[in-house]
Amino acid sequence: MRALIILSFFVSPFLGVSQNSDLPSDFLSKDFHKDRRQKLRESLPANSVAVFFANPTRNRANDVDYVYHQDPNFFYLTGYREPDAILFIFKDKQTASNNSRYDEILFTQPRNELREMWTGRRLGEVGAKEVLGFEQAFNNSEFKRYNVDFSKFDKIIFTDFKNDVRDNPRDSSDLYELINQFKVKVKYPEKNSIALTREAQKNNLDTQSLNGLMSNLRGVKTKEEIELIRKAVSISCAGQVEVLKAMKPGMSEREIQGIHEFVFKKYQAEDLGYPSIVGAGHNGCILHYIDNYKPEITSKELILMDLGAEFHGYSADITRTFPISGKFSPEQKLIYELVLKAQEEAMKICKPGTPRQELTVVCRDVINKGLIELGVTKPGEKHMYFPHGVCHNIGLDVHDMGGENLEENNTVTIEPGIYIPDNAKCDKKWWGIAVRIEDDFLITKDGYEHLSTLAPRTVKDIEAMMKLPSALDDFILPSLDKKN
Ligand code: GLY
Ligand code: MN
Ligand code: MN
Repeated sequence: MRALIILSFFVSPFLGVSQNSDLPSDFLSKDFHKDRRQKLRESLPANSVAVFFANPTRNRANDVDYVYHQDPNFFYLTGYREPDAILFIFKDKQTASNNSRYDEILFTQPRNELREMWTGRRLGEVGAKEVLGFEQAFNNSEFKRYNVDFSKFDKIIFTDFKNDVRDNPRDSSDLYELINQFKVKVKYPEKNSIALTREAQKNNLDTQSLNGLMSNLRGVKTKEEIELIRKAVSISCAGQVEVLKAMKPGMSEREIQGIHEFVFKKYQAEDLGYPSIVGAGHNGCILHYIDNYKPEITSKELILMDLGAEFHGYSADITRTFPISGKFSPEQKLIYELVLKAQEEAMKICKPGTPRQELTVVCRDVINKGLIELGVTKPGEKHMYFPHGVCHNIGLDVHDMGGENLEENNTVTIEPGIYIPDNAKCDKKWWGIAVRIEDDFLITKDGYEHLSTLAPRTVKDIEAMMKLPSALDDFILPSLDKKN
């Protein structure tokens, strides 16, 4: 440790802490992250250490990378939003060579004036201390010299490597190098993970436990997290409302996607929780349809829109299905109201203790019976019109961690659907009808709070809102076609 402490004085003193006064003040606080680390520490087994790696940078093409997104576990425990970092959380206090005591340590990417001029501000080790509140933070180049005796731990807990991280040959302390150095330090066997699991019985490497430990923590949201999820949900509902007022036959799927995403940005959502799904007519039957290429939506079609804003890391997940003409056809209305009924029935059992799977069972029961009553299916007939489950947690991941049973302060979706493709084995009047209704809920002590009520759900409310004027009615762009 002494080497680390001495070396840290040599970090460019002319680079002050990377401050960005434009940053919003309502990010998760450093106390939140510190508390989460402490809670994880309490849940670790005796004489163990948990190790986390930042997400890798991913290359899009040539010299353009995908927009960086931190690994949710790493973000949850640190608030650090940069690559090439490694975090250790120890069960017990460790002693550095200068006799100081510590139970967590973060290695960050270093400050670099030139790189920051091109690709943005970095916190560096000083920022990790001052902004994120770490007592022990060092530049990642110092990890090589970090000589804790890892053989003394009963367990070194981490997620096994997927061997999908690229080496940046110009950087000898990028994530690729950090992983290699870690492997040497902990005597990681260079074999596949099955062999590792077997070998782990002989050594102290545990690649199985971390998911469960993090899931226990992340599934139950704190007050600060719930506030951010509320915001992400409200922003996503506002997108649905603005689209509802603005949509007209002849619009494209892409244009409708753009209205949602413009509203997200207007409310300062940094990102999308997942690629936006905007499917008209039978495109809605593709559950995760993200092509969004249909150039003109015809007046008879429904449009299924599944979009979630990501606000300060937290994602909403909301689906609405509207008739582009402003009025449901009789068949569309029957299918829509069946899906709504399934959702309402599932909401009735939405409370602590209910297995999440039970919500799917309830929806399946309502939909199977309803489809027979409508004559879409026959009794005993197997069908693929409702092929998915209806409930997952939301949070830092859109499909977030959490237990099998609902618990107080889970945030979850309920999302039944019916999807009848063209050429389905039923009367063709049903073809091309795809409906999903997806709402977000906070599980409370005795039941739930419905978080996504801002976006209308009933046929009556949808049709009424579609009659309202839109601020976009007068937003007409010039033609780019030179002939016009
Ligand atoms: N948007 C993905 C899902 O509903 O699970
Ligand atoms: Mn969902
Ligand atoms: Mn969804």
